[in-house]
Amino acid sequence: MPPERPFVFINAAMSADGKIATRERKQTRISGSLDFDRMDELRASSDAVMVGIGTVLSDNPSLTVKSKERREKRRAEGKDENPVRIVVDSLARTPIDADIFKKGVGKKTIAVTEMAPEEKVKQLAEHAEIIVSGEKSVDLGKLLCELKTHGINRLMVEGGATLNWGLVSAGLVDEIYTFIGSIIIGGKTAPTLVDGEGFISDFSKLSLISCEKLEDGVLVRWKVQNQKDVRNL
Ligand SMILES: NC(=O)c1ccc[n+]([C@@H]2O[C@H](COP(=O)([O-])OP(=O)(O)OC[C@H]3O[C@@H](n4cnc5c(N)ncnc54)[C@H](OP(=O)(O)O)[C@@H]3O)[C@@H](O)[C@H]2O)c1
Repeated sequence: MPPERPFVFINAAMSADGKIATRERKQTRISGSLDFDRMDELRASSDAVMVGIGTVLSDNPSLTVKSKERREKRRAEGKDENPVRIVVDSLARTPIDADIFKKGVGKKTIAVTEMAPEEKVKQLAEHAEIIVSGEKSVDLGKLLCELKTHGINRLMVEGGATLNWGLVSAGLVDEIYTFIGSIIIGGKTAPTLVDGEGFISDFSKLSLISCEKLEDGVLVRWKVQNQKDVRNL
């Protein structure tokens, strides 16, 4: 049987100039309550939510479903209140006191590499499932295929810029939601929606699914055209 991966979508809020945080890589409020609610619904409808270790270290997000009704609905469907929370973290740097461990019930997964220090992995294994994938950085294609075998069919990616690049450049993203807020952050070192090395050619092409006004910003939903066939992994 060929390996399969989950349906993968990125959700991010960015400024009018494409920045997702400040030049100090600090989280800042870009969207309003309607967008938070939309994001909460996306979380609640996903089997798992994924972030990079950079986001855990800078923002310490809990990645929980905020609405009580949505948590109850998930429970009524026989699911955990929160989707599985996944951190892409080559060297097992996720702090044991991170909010993903402290807040909300539900499974957590830390995706590490063969280079991750054994002692750190052991500590994290007391709080989360550990998946080892890749040598220097996490092999995202293999990780997604493994997640699919764990019953994860719908995966929401909540950044940051480097993880987004890793997934987009590997052709592993199906859709992208961006809320574009009415603010300019500026700064050549401030993270953008997709950072990493960048394409020289063979850019990732998108087609527009929808575009709507939301509060004082715009919500844009894109389909990514050129996904990689995971059967080639
Ligand atoms: N506005 C928004 O919607 C939003 C959402 C989320 C985050 N953010 C912002 O984004 C910033 C964090 O982004 P970031 O780029 O610094 O970090 P990130 O994308 O959250 O995490 C990147 C890290 O993941 C690890 N990684 C392991 N394997 C990887 C692979 N194959 N591809 C890519 N990454 C891999 C690497 O660290 P190791 O080598 O140590 O594994 C890498 O440095 C923060 O400023 C945060 O506030 C904004």
